[in-house]
Amino acid sequence: MRLDFPPKYTETIGSIKIHSLQKIYEIDSGNVVNSNNQRNNNTSTIAFDNRKLSKKCTKMAVVIPVKNEKLSLLEGVLSGIPNECLIIIVSNSQRTPVDRYAMEVEMVKQFSQFSNKRISIIHQRDPNLSRIFHKLNYTSILDQHSQVRRGKAEGMVIGILLAKMQEKEYVGFIDSDNYFPGAVNEYVKIFASGFAMSQSRMSNIRICWRSKPKVANNKVYFPRWGRVSEHSNKYLNDLISYITGYETDIITTGNAGEHALSMSLAENMQFASGYSVEPYELINILENFGGIIKESSRLHKDSVEIFQIETRNPHFHEDKGNDHIIGMLQESLSAINNSKICNTDITRDIKNHLLVLEQKTNQTSSRTGAISNNHLMDPIKTISMDKFNELVIDSPKLLHQFNASEI
Ligand code: GDP
Ligand code: CO
Repeated sequence: MRLDFPPKYTETIGSIKIHSLQKIYEIDSGNVVNSNNQRNNNTSTIAFDNRKLSKKCTKMAVVIPVKNEKLSLLEGVLSGIPNECLIIIVSNSQRTPVDRYAMEVEMVKQFSQFSNKRISIIHQRDPNLSRIFHKLNYTSILDQHSQVRRGKAEGMVIGILLAKMQEKEYVGFIDSDNYFPGAVNEYVKIFASGFAMSQSRMSNIRICWRSKPKVANNKVYFPRWGRVSEHSNKYLNDLISYITGYETDIITTGNAGEHALSMSLAENMQFASGYSVEPYELINILENFGGIIKESSRLHKDSVEIFQIETRNPHFHEDKGNDHIIGMLQESLSAINNSKICNTDITRDIKNHLLVLEQKTNQTSSRTGAISNNHLMDPIKTISMDKFNELVIDSPKLLHQFNASEI
């Protein structure tokens, strides 16, 4: 893979480096004979060959959150993930009246026989898993009935834990409703390239889609921005402009569903529930490492690097309708708004925006328009991994692992 390097510009905030969007020139840049050739006499790009990417992939788990997606979609996503990666599927699919989770397990079992991939699958609402969290006193993932809450972010946190249990250094997230396995393959290679570029052990690689194709009036269109990212990018940029004092448009990946974290960073972060997880990731990094909040003591010890990389493949996923988009926008904006680092002007703008959305939902749909109060989950480094490991092993039906012997 060959991409822009160094990034065109970088915003430095406290110990965080946010790099501007990097473009890919070659998805496959061929074999690089020696490391000097990585730059190929060309000072503005860097190339990573398959050997280098493959090395990174062996240290990576790819977490796939899934909720009631078509089995063939999920299977396509699995087929796009390089063999070296450990795949962790965290499902919140229905169990009754039709047990869709059992269907997923069966599909994965068969698929892993043909593909020789290492795949683990778990159900996030499994009562055994809730019990484990209860025992470990990790209650921020539980609801009032001591059950693991629903939500994509909750699934992601479980995925990070399972990746940590298997001693993975990196964890990437890829949605299960992607129609193009080739795009999925590109995402993983982007994650691997991002980690290869990073100078810091704490890094976040965020994917910016080249386009999101839409069909309208019997024609295919290729709009660049989704309806949610446009707005969350704007407010995140407003926030960064306010912090640095210079107007910026550096953030292009506010709602990047596809993103990756080094474990050193992931285990230190708080995650916001549901769909606000991606924009909140940036907020949480700013809160913890930006040196903006006095009491955040972690500043200076470690630096965090954030890479944003633009795909060549378009992003084509399941269309979940207008209500879904509005709900996601509400959750994303309130995650930004609820932060201690958000100033009054931005808060006012966001509140007005939310009000308009609220009116829209009341007019156009059955959604109550309730804005999530952005529940936060504690950093997973607070969990004893030995104990977690032990408890998972003691619950034999909890985690299905295929081709596990090679893990
Ligand atoms: P969008 O692509 O951002 O509009 O959101 P999606 O509805 O496609 O969700 C992103 C991914 O998260 C998809 O793969 C969903 O199947 C999955 N997902 C959604 N809700 C949940 C959940 O409650 N738990 C888990 N584990 N996955 C979920
Ligand atoms: Co989707």
